[in-house]
Amino acid sequence: MLELIDRYRPDFVVVSGDLTQRAKPEQFQQARAFVNRFPVPSLVVPGNHDVPLYRVWERVFDPFGTYKKYFSPELEPVYRDDEMLVVGINTAFGWTLKDGRITLRRLLEVEQILKSVPDEVCKVVVAHHHLIPPPNFGTQRVLANAYEAIDLFSSNGVDLILSGHLHQAYIGNSEEFYPKGRPPVVILHSGTTTSNRGRGGERESNTCNWIQVDGKSIVVSHFRWHHKLDRFAEHSRHWYPRQELVPYTLDGLSHQSWKPDRAAAKTEDPVPAHPPAGR
Ligand SMILES: [Fe+2]
Repeated sequence: MLELIDRYRPDFVVVSGDLTQRAKPEQFQQARAFVNRFPVPSLVVPGNHDVPLYRVWERVFDPFGTYKKYFSPELEPVYRDDEMLVVGINTAFGWTLKDGRITLRRLLEVEQILKSVPDEVCKVVVAHHHLIPPPNFGTQRVLANAYEAIDLFSSNGVDLILSGHLHQAYIGNSEEFYPKGRPPVVILHSGTTTSNRGRGGERESNTCNWIQVDGKSIVVSHFRWHHKLDRFAEHSRHWYPRQELVPYTLDGLSHQSWKPDRAAAKTEDPVPAHPPAGR
């Protein structure tokens, strides 16, 4: 993972929760040391595994005390620059074992944050729990208030929602599950990048996602650990138009404004250098 980050030097790294298995101090310390080695800015949100499971007093009265003490005092960080807004949402709580929710309080806060930046800024929301079910498990329960959240994100120009609870990667858009004539939001769920708890088609696999955004489009490459190459390698690629800036039609597939970025200069890996091949 560190080699991949160093190779491509992304502007930003998102870690969508479950830093630990059992929310132990030493596990948070190891996670902190690992994230500290990223040579670029990052944003981290907690997951349900970052709440103590068996330490019941802590779980009930101070579910994020250990996270705050040993990893970060901030549960819902926000990053912004001239091109990008990334809003973290904590969806894990002490009173549930694994299900998540977005509180209405946080939704209202996020709405104000989203309204505070210009339309052209790429708006990304990061939550641990998923807002759409995985394709091979359509009855999987999504986080509480997912419908309300999608409604708000869509109507406030969110381009991309990131999550990572289910240990398998999948991508879709909000229109597939919440059809209501709103602009669709791209929803990307991450697999497990560093643990051996992959599920579904990613059992015992490690994956991560490389996301490139320009003025008109979002391109997501799923990377999977490739044992023969002994590194992460691109497994699939997905192209979407930016919802506020380009009508959601297949016309976008022919646009050729894609440009190699600076990562292409650092590596012979073809991923960043090629134009998007299509959805
Ligand atoms: Fe989780």
